[in-house]
Amino acid sequence: MSISDDDLIDAAKHARENAYCHYSGYSVGAAIIDDQGRMHVGCNIENAAYPLGNCAEAAAIAAMVLQGGKRIDRIAVAGGSVDVTPCTPCGGCRQRIQEFADENTVIITMDDSRDWQQYSIAELLPAGFHLD
Ligand code: THU
Repeated sequence: MSISDDDLIDAAKHARENAYCHYSGYSVGAAIIDDQGRMHVGCNIENAAYPLGNCAEAAAIAAMVLQGGKRIDRIAVAGGSVDVTPCTPCGGCRQRIQEFADENTVIITMDDSRDWQQYSIAELLPAGFHLD
């Protein structure tokens, strides 16, 4: 049975609840559906040595790769609130997503309201860096 966008969004919001973000106070959750239809989740994990913090997308991608996932079919990112801009992936995470994306990959972003937005990787990272 395939996982709906609503379930993917709920998983990202649920993952967000486990964010370790004492320093910024900004929690983010991410949930991926991979090429095999499986879900992988991640949250941001900060560190007292600030640059060592990891984004939620990076954690979800790491979980996907660990399980043998090859491609991101859909990724939902939950962060921000109605008072703060919804969390669209940061520049580094756009590059991370691109590594496992193609033209059909859907990137869904939302804050803690019911609203959500949908992008392609080309929209988020035009003229992104490729090695091939
Ligand atoms: N953050 C993410 O997890 N993903 C993004 O795409 C943007 C930012 C996290 C990093 C840091 O822990 C907090 O949000 C504030 O920047």
